[in-house]
Amino acid sequence: MDNILDEKKVDEFENNIRPSTLDDYIGQTDVKENIRVFIEAAKIRNESLDHVLLYGPPGLGKTTLAHIIANELGVNIKTASGPSIEKSGDLAAILSTLEQGDVLFIDEIHRMPRIVEEILYPAMEDFELDIIIGSEGTSKSIKISLPPFTLVGATTRSGDLSSPLRDRFGIVCKLNYYTNEELSSIVKRTSRIMDLSITDDAALELAKRARKTPRIANRLYKRVRDFALVGKKENIDLDITKSSLDRLKVDSYGLDEIDVEYLTSLIQKFNGGPVGLETIATSIGEEVTTIEDVVEPFLLQEGFIKRTRSGRIATEKSYEHLGMNHAYTLFDEIE
Ligand SMILES: Nc1ncnc2c1ncn2[C@@H]1O[C@H](COP(=O)(O)OP(=O)(O)O)[C@@H](O)[C@H]1O
Ligand SMILES: [Mg+2]
Repeated sequence: MDNILDEKKVDEFENNIRPSTLDDYIGQTDVKENIRVFIEAAKIRNESLDHVLLYGPPGLGKTTLAHIIANELGVNIKTASGPSIEKSGDLAAILSTLEQGDVLFIDEIHRMPRIVEEILYPAMEDFELDIIIGSEGTSKSIKISLPPFTLVGATTRSGDLSSPLRDRFGIVCKLNYYTNEELSSIVKRTSRIMDLSITDDAALELAKRARKTPRIANRLYKRVRDFALVGKKENIDLDITKSSLDRLKVDSYGLDEIDVEYLTSLIQKFNGGPVGLETIATSIGEEVTTIEDVVEPFLLQEGFIKRTRSGRIATEKSYEHLGMNHAYTLFDEIE
């Protein structure tokens, strides 16, 4: 299945609609206003911005915000992703290209190998690179000083970050799910950039079905736009939006196929739980990390499931939404 959250497919559409300034970044008001102040202060002092950690589920705007920070600071951004930095030398190579005040963006920073992480500590704290040169026996450690820079780290799970690493970020921001109104503004903005008009009710309908996530709202918008084009519609209205979304099997609550499979399995195969993470992941043939990082945060936030010490359980809302009966009373006892 075409995974709607797949980040690797950054295309031209994506590049065009990605906001590049804080003013264009919709929602996340607290995070945005705080970052605005810290950027302003760093500029006044003529210092590099403190290191920033951005965390939250996929598609909420972490990468976008990292680029905005560099743009607002007026500096270059170098990007890397945690798993791609395999050796300490890889990180040293990236660090040595940094210029005064630059932003180094490390995505999926929780997946960086531990030995690499250790190079990062003195780099973050003292802008110093400790490297070992020479071969065994004759090797020695040398220190190279780096220009002050800002590390922006992004992660879907701040809990997986080691505490020495987490403690080295002066600014820690949690990105939250968006409201339907915010998502609707994002969809309208996208449509404006695409030079296609969209009615208010259509934008809101799209927003409601986007799992509270901008990336999904934009992807859905893109598909609806295709249906509108082929259906020779001059603008995007509620009708075409609803019929397109139904064809895409996005339900009225924004749950996608994996969400529905997860809940159906939880209820039908495991009597509504409690069931362990790995068991449920295996039962629907998904990776544990996908379930934990993508599927569950939304289901938890929207109250479709609960996490208990003995495992995940389906709530009343799940049964209602899927139109399923309580065959068992286990859930009621836990409640
Ligand atoms: N606050 C926002 N305002 C407008 N568009 C946004 C916002 N946050 C994210 N987007 C859109 O959603 C897409 C996904 O955001 P991204 O930064 O890649 O998410 P993440 O890195 O958290 O997975 C972006 O391409 C951007 O177009
Ligand atoms: Mg990202």
